[in-house]
Amino acid sequence: MSRDDLVAVEPDPDNVTRCASRPDSIIARALSGKLIEMNGMPVRAGYHRRVGAPLDRSATWPYEDGEPGRFSYVRADHPTGAACEEALGALDGGHALLYPSGMGAVTTVVLTMLRPGGTIALAEGAYYGHRVLFDHLAPWGANVVEFDQTGPPPANADLIFLEAPANPLLTMPDLEAAATHPAPVICDATVATPLRLRPLEHGTDVVVHSATKILAGHDDVLAGVTVTRDPELRDRLHLTRRLAGIVASADTAWLVHRGLETLETRLARQEATASVLAERLAAHPAVTTVRYPGFSFLIAFDVADGEAAARVERAIRVIENATSLGGVRSKLEARHRWEGDRIPTGLIRLSVGLEEQETLWADVEQALAQV
Ligand SMILES: Cc1ncc(COP(=O)(O)O)c(C=O)c1O
Repeated sequence: MSRDDLVAVEPDPDNVTRCASRPDSIIARALSGKLIEMNGMPVRAGYHRRVGAPLDRSATWPYEDGEPGRFSYVRADHPTGAACEEALGALDGGHALLYPSGMGAVTTVVLTMLRPGGTIALAEGAYYGHRVLFDHLAPWGANVVEFDQTGPPPANADLIFLEAPANPLLTMPDLEAAATHPAPVICDATVATPLRLRPLEHGTDVVVHSATKILAGHDDVLAGVTVTRDPELRDRLHLTRRLAGIVASADTAWLVHRGLETLETRLARQEATASVLAERLAAHPAVTTVRYPGFSFLIAFDVADGEAAARVERAIRVIENATSLGGVRSKLEARHRWEGDRIPTGLIRLSVGLEEQETLWADVEQALAQV
């Protein structure tokens, strides 16, 4: 192979389009990547003459002919991060950047795209941490209003923040209505994943993921992602990330990349189980409401009140009573303790994992019998 065989790291929209028409190959395509140059070596995106991504923990790399090369200092970029970003960008159809957390990604977006005095229109029922962060940024001039994301955003919005589906109320945004608004549109698609929704294809400017969740999938890493089609916007986000040092480590990038290898399989099984559990929950006499968007691994259901929800939390045996979602182990918690009155007191969020379907249902059923 000669240096002429190498191609740029940028995602190729044609390949992405082909992936979209053959969904079963999306992960394979995203991970196989192209030949790119990293650190002077020809590397297939994500692979370095080995099975799996290269794990390079260097914080600095030697200059080439007296000049910084593609990688020079880890706060800017590093080979393992670039391999992971190549795969993530191919999945969402844009330019991906990796961060040390989902909230790091959101903070970078707000610092880059909102001017002091600007108003963020946030989807009602979206991840409560977004609201808490935006309120925390009030001294820097961030205002926030919440709105029903199933309709158009408020006219006075300077930045529109949607969530597909909202966690935990599981509404889906009207992406097309938001795209007609003059303000930039951000969509947190953590729960949908790029395998079920690619918001950039619906006029969204930036997709955000908490890769801590199903992208990595094993509850052993904290990570976040932005993806954008506009290279200029990608560069502005990258500048904020580099200057502020909101950078994921090589180990973080490696774990996210490894998670992507099994994403399709994990999601398919977790989703199949979740849809059965959602149906059975809807028929259960102790359950008053079931929210399930018709896809994904996440269900939110209501029991009578906070006390009933607490009894379910203590009664479950197989499912973990823990926070977070998207991992291979099922988890359940009453969300009122975190979110207060923005959600019903009896709301329980269930993230379905890889355990056997009937084992999970038996656990849910015996716990609901305590209500
Ligand atoms: C939908 C959603 N977005 C973003 C976040 C924040 O991600 P992280 O915990 O990786 O910072 C979370 C965390 O639970 C989430 O559920």
